[in-house]
Amino acid sequence: MERVLVTGGGGFIGSALVLHLLAETEVEVVNVDKLTYAAHPDSLAAVADHPRYHFERVDIGDRPALEAVFDRHRPDAVIHLAAESHVDRSIREPAAFIATNLVGTYQLLETARAYWAGLDAPRRAAFRFLQVSTDEVYGDLGDRPERFREGGPYAPSSPYSASKAGADHLVRAWHRTYGLPVLVTHCSNNYGPRQYPEKLIPLMLFNALAGRPLPLYGDGRQVRDWLYVEDHARALWAVLLGGRVGETYHIGGDAERTNLEVVEALCAELEGRDLPRPPGVRAFRDLITFVADRPGHDRRYAIDAGKLRRELGWQPRETFASGLARTVDWYLANPSWVERARAGVAEWLERHYGGGGER
Ligand code: NAD
Ligand code: DAU
Repeated sequence: MERVLVTGGGGFIGSALVLHLLAETEVEVVNVDKLTYAAHPDSLAAVADHPRYHFERVDIGDRPALEAVFDRHRPDAVIHLAAESHVDRSIREPAAFIATNLVGTYQLLETARAYWAGLDAPRRAAFRFLQVSTDEVYGDLGDRPERFREGGPYAPSSPYSASKAGADHLVRAWHRTYGLPVLVTHCSNNYGPRQYPEKLIPLMLFNALAGRPLPLYGDGRQVRDWLYVEDHARALWAVLLGGRVGETYHIGGDAERTNLEVVEALCAELEGRDLPRPPGVRAFRDLITFVADRPGHDRRYAIDAGKLRRELGWQPRETFASGLARTVDWYLANPSWVERARAGVAEWLERHYGGGGER
């Protein structure tokens, strides 16, 4: 494996993956990214001139541009992360989710298939297409105590998860029908450095520091399973190198928490630091506010990542406590990243939450 094409490398998980590959492996990395609002200009600034890093500003829906990128870089593998990723945006404006997650994945698959078909036999055999999917395609566990297992039935609830589900079906069909050597991963909720403040943890962190309300949807008792983003990056590399073609691997942190528990843990983490308290705020947790629920909100997700642990020896390095502390450290140490990210989502935050932070 000498050259890996990563789509969506400018985003939250993609940038963690690109940084991981450049720091921990010898591969060349080609980052194909359209640079939507979700790609922060500073996230990969440190590696912009790295000799093993190449950037191509391309929309994955643009087939001729994709074909030119494959011709130019001749990758040995594709790790496909490019997507519209925020559930709330998908509820308000689903079109971009269908265009990128579904049609874009189709264009990428067709480009990869034609390229793969033209490789010589050894390179054809070694080529891999890794689809980075989500636990959300399985839908709501509700009150059922089980966890998602590989091969379980799909039941997506939101336009986002439905578009990811459709993309996964295309990827598996391209394997079965055309023989494209694919792998599929499903990961639980990621958190960590460089995540946009439209998502739960950075949104709550930024709001707390500014003394704004911390808007929990519904009763705040929905359960997510949290994984530190660098553990996800390591898992993707392990699956790419060691995963069996055509197989699916779950990635998760065994860290189920209610949203209320997550926000309380974040507030406790902030209380433990010597930070200026926003005017009129006695304790950060007093900012917690229960607001109107997300339509179609899934109650619980939980991932069983036993197959990945058993077959490929992967396990997370961070606990939820250690990962959360590292996350807070990173945001506090990177105020200019934070400022630009806030500006990048300001219009969305205003539209979705209103000026006071409530919906
Ligand atoms: P993100 O929104 O932070 O980043 C998405 C990236 O994709 C951005 O850099 C954006 O510019 C790029 N992009 C969007 N549309 C594009 C297009 N048409 N062409 C090229 N590039 C485009 O997303 P993320 O949270 O880093 O998620 C990355 C992937 O991982 C997604 O496929 C998502 O479904 C999956 N995933 C995310 C999580 C999570 O908790 N964030 C968990 C499991 C799986
Ligand atoms: O499970 C994996 C998925 O995790 C990924 O596929 C998605 O790309 C990623 O965005 C994430 O989806 P969620 O909807 O779970 O993440 P989000 O951070 O938006 O919300 C986490 C939980 O917090 C969810 O139950 C909704 C709740 N929430 C979120 C926001 C933004 C709130 O209560 N208030 C909020 O303001």
